[in-house]
Amino acid sequence: MDHQVRHLALVIGSLREGSYNRKVAEYIRSIAPDAWQISEIEIADLPLYSQDYDGQPIECYERVRSQIAAADGILFVTPEHNRSIPAALKNLLDIASRPAGRSVWAGKKAAVLTASIGGYGGINSGLHLRQILQMLGVTVLVQPEAYLARIQSALDEQGVLVESRTQHLLQQWVAAVDQWLS
Ligand SMILES: Cc1cc2nc3c(=O)[nH]c(=O)nc-3n(C[C@H](O)[C@H](O)[C@H](O)COP(=O)(O)O)c2cc1C
Repeated sequence: MDHQVRHLALVIGSLREGSYNRKVAEYIRSIAPDAWQISEIEIADLPLYSQDYDGQPIECYERVRSQIAAADGILFVTPEHNRSIPAALKNLLDIASRPAGRSVWAGKKAAVLTASIGGYGGINSGLHLRQILQMLGVTVLVQPEAYLARIQSALDEQGVLVESRTQHLLQQWVAAVDQWLS
């Protein structure tokens, strides 16, 4: 394995305080290789995208576009909302895809992980996200897929991810992402 620094942008699709997906992301950070420099792309403060903003320098839009442009890879950790991706995440995808011809997504690499309190693990959110990323020219890690069902049962009362089976799955996922980025 090489030890070149990797600049990874982390997108958490939930705005919820106490988000389970954020807990999963915290565990991923705790096991990430030393070479990973992870910076979160905050999405909570982004106004809903409108084409009318294309000519305007909106500071938070420029912030997320720059973060994506600078990243070697993007990690998406997201819930499913009504069988698709959360609106706040879609907003980020749209913002960074515009103005037309200046999308910062094309050529990027990404990995997708979903976590849900339900039994299907947010799989449809993950599949929808993959579909959108494909259209944006982002290459997405194919295997292993990671759709974590009943995520609340993998956490302890403090919200720490303690369940060994899920830990093992995430360790495999992180290793696969690292190898794929190299
Ligand atoms: C608007 C909304 C829609 C939801 N739709 C789904 C869904 O389609 N599938 C699913 O598995 N869970 C769904 N859930 C439940 C989420 O899995 C649950 O809220 C989970 O805690 C979200 O992740 P978070 O804790 O990171 O916010 C939905 C939750 C909300 C608030």
